[in-house]
This record gives sequence, C-alpha cells and structure tokens, in this order.
Amino acid sequence: MKIKSADFIISNTDVSKCPKEQLPEYAFIGRSNVGKSSLINMLTGRNKLAKTSGRPGKTQLINHFKINNNWFLVDLPGYGYAKVSKSIKRTFQSFIKNYFLQREQLICTFVLIDSRLEPQKIDLEFMEFLGEKEIPFVIVFTKSDKLKLNELNKNIQFYKKKMTSAVWEEMPPYFITSATNSTGKDEVLNYIDEINKQ
Ligand code: GTP
Ligand code: MG
Repeated sequence: MKIKSADFIISNTDVSKCPKEQLPEYAFIGRSNVGKSSLINMLTGRNKLAKTSGRPGKTQLINHFKINNNWFLVDLPGYGYAKVSKSIKRTFQSFIKNYFLQREQLICTFVLIDSRLEPQKIDLEFMEFLGEKEIPFVIVFTKSDKLKLNELNKNIQFYKKKMTSAVWEEMPPYFITSATNSTGKDEVLNYIDEINKQ
C-alpha cells in the first residue's frame, strides 16, 4: 500500500472523544519505549508524525492519524511505565483499557514486543486481556536492527514456546520490524491493506 496522506487528527484520553467516523482503525500498543511512535513514523514515511523519545513515557494520549483519508492509525501510551506515580499509572491504564473495550472501529491491534527481550509478564498479561475480550491482535517484534538474525530467531522461537505453553493454542501472526532500516514496512502495510479490502 502506498501512503498518500497521513494527517494528525486528535489527541485525548477519552474514548468518547475519539473520531466518530466509521473508518477501520489499527492501534499500536506495547511497553513504554518499545518503539510504537517510531513504527508509525516508519510505516507512514513521515518522520515527525508521531512524537518519539529515548525516554519512556513520551506518548501519553490516544493519538489518531488518518491515513489516505480512509483508515486510522492510533498511537497509544505505553504500559508498564515505571517512572510515573501509581495514581497516574492507574489513569493511563483505565483510559487505555476503555479504548480497547469501547472502540468499535478497532479492527486489529498491533502488540509491540522488544525483540531483544525474553517474554515479559506484562506483555503476556496484556495479550491475555485482548484474548479474553476477543479483540483481534498480531505481534510486532521491534528494534530488529539491534540484534543478529540468529539471536532474533532464537528469541521468537522462545516466545512461541512461551505463548503456546500458556493459554494460546498457537502464536498469533507476527511481524519483524525495524524503524531504523524500515524492515517489515511492506509486510505490515500489506496486512492492513488486505483487511481493509475485505
Ligand atoms: P512511549 O511513547 O514512551 O511509550 O514510547 P514508544 O513505544 O512510542 O517508543 P518511541 O517510538 O518513542 O521509541 C523509543 C526509543 O527507541 C527512541 O529512542 C527510538 O529512537 C528508539 N527506537 C524505536 N524503534 C527503533 C528501532 O526499530 N530500532 C532502533 N535501533 N531504535 C528504535
Ligand atoms: Mg510513543
């Protein structure tokens, strides 16, 4: 899919204030600093569309971007963000949770996982939450430029094992990406394109 336009529409913490248009929507979620905003910039080819930072906790709102005037990309705050107070953390969690529970336009969620790390409890729990609520999701292993191919494959195999030994019959579809060298760009965009055509 070619990205002809990518426009910031609105930021907020209230799902009822998200755009009312009935366009298919794709959300990006994962731990703080995993590379959600960077991935959105890489996919859209707009370096400054979503704000990124080396410090965790940059994105604090639900951000809607309209793509090609016919679908939405959504950049979300990270979960598992250690450097804010517990009360702020709880607010983040409740509005993010509400977004997932109430956003009817949401077609598919991309759960971003740092490809360098072994499976983290918080990610596994978040995917279990999506599973329980029957919210479709796929996995994106990010920052693949930071490790060697054999290490990457080993980590993904380990992830598969971990997921299938727990609650999952099989690992959901997954993508390998790098915002630095655009790995996975066509694969993710084609996946979205295929769903949009259905
Ligand atoms: P929050 O908004 O804080 O939750 O973070 P985020 O998940 O949106 O992460 P963000 O895109 O801001 O990236 C965090 C840091 O990781 C930045 O310093 C990015 O430059 C870096 N980063 C993101 N993606 C990649 C990648 O694919 N490769 C490398 N090497 N660095 C990356
Ligand atoms: Mg961000």
